[in-house]
Amino acid sequence: MDPFRLLLITDTHYFASKLGCRGEAYDEFMKLEQKCYAETEAINRAAFKWLNDTDLADTVLIAGDLSFNGEKESHLEFIELLKDLKAHGKRVYVITAGHDFNDHPFAFDETGRLEPEGTKREELYGLYHEFGFDSALAVDEENLSYVAELAPGLRLLALNNDGDGKCGHTYSARQIEWILKQTKQAREDGAVMIAMNHYPLLPGVPLFKLLGGEVVMKNADYITTLLADEGVHLCFTGHMHNMSINLKTTEKGNKFYDVCTGSLIGHPAGIRLVSFTDHYNTVGVETLPIPDFEWDFKGVTQEAYMRRQFDSMINTMLTYMRDDPKRFLGKIGMKNAAPAAVEAVGKLGQKLNAATVGQVCRLLMAKCDDSIKDIRFVDFARGLVRHAFEGNMPYVKGTPEHDAVMGALGKFASRVNAGGAKLSDLIEGTIGKYGLDDLNETLTLV
Ligand SMILES: [Fe+2]
Ligand SMILES: [Fe+2]
Repeated sequence: MDPFRLLLITDTHYFASKLGCRGEAYDEFMKLEQKCYAETEAINRAAFKWLNDTDLADTVLIAGDLSFNGEKESHLEFIELLKDLKAHGKRVYVITAGHDFNDHPFAFDETGRLEPEGTKREELYGLYHEFGFDSALAVDEENLSYVAELAPGLRLLALNNDGDGKCGHTYSARQIEWILKQTKQAREDGAVMIAMNHYPLLPGVPLFKLLGGEVVMKNADYITTLLADEGVHLCFTGHMHNMSINLKTTEKGNKFYDVCTGSLIGHPAGIRLVSFTDHYNTVGVETLPIPDFEWDFKGVTQEAYMRRQFDSMINTMLTYMRDDPKRFLGKIGMKNAAPAAVEAVGKLGQKLNAATVGQVCRLLMAKCDDSIKDIRFVDFARGLVRHAFEGNMPYVKGTPEHDAVMGALGKFASRVNAGGAKLSDLIEGTIGKYGLDDLNETLTLV
């Protein structure tokens, strides 16, 4: 029985290149994208070839956002890759998510924006039933969820919480009833149950929980307590395209781990290799790089090429702050900001884009170590954001970067209550990771 291994990828965002991914409108679109787009077909094809051939595991989990944006053709080509994986003897378990259904997907060519055929949510079961549903112990077709036996005595609760696509990302009362029936059945059968859910259940970094929207599932606190106390102590998630491993312990003393994996097709990309031993109670998580894919990387490494896309998204935001503050505010959900606010943000943008870390620290009356004072502020800020997505954020207590950030913001932020926590604690936990390693860690479920 031991050890049992599986491989997990997520947010494959496959895009059928023949639909069109080029031209001026494409280039404009990519300025604010973290994901690769034209490259996703090549990345997926390389990754699936590797999955076909590897003998590390014969079980593959995919945690949703399978297509780029719900294009029918992307789904059809992606399903060919899944079928090929099965033909190579792999067992494949997928869930779908918000990017898998869309009435108005898009593509680009020299003429501008195109409108390829989309996919309705009602079509997803028919498209993906072979990859988890058909061999399941239980299926909730309405919610595109199922329970599968991964190995003798190990069950996967594969959950989808898109509902009708309008009700927000949470479980309905009926779905919770179904979940409770499954967890009870697993306990009665003496099986260990783990889960897979596209949307994170614990925030990847503490500040994520302030962003609202889809960053963490709605009523995640209730759901994580419910699952942990029902005996589900581990959930694989995706969606945020970040790498994190976090733990919550419920009042009853039960653990809940959220292992969130980055997108296959955007920095930080990776594949998780998960090994279960000790009757599935000890879970080793390793993060592997994605395989090499065929592309013109313009003279840099594949990883640097993908990282550059991530960085360019942040750079664009920072320059919008200076050059087009109204657009910047729109991008962070404040499109109705008052003219005075737009002007103030523009002025701040001018200052920050020209300043060094030392100058910003001086402005905020914080000490700044000589080793970082000459770094351009925008480069420093971009690094902070990127580290938050890469995991294992490096600026822990004792580093000059930690002292500069906490010196500049800590005093003010310690007086701000942010969803029941001190804002300063959330900032400190976002620039430096304490506790679990986000990439390679051994988890003890009970
Ligand atoms: Fe995604
Ligand atoms: Fe998503």
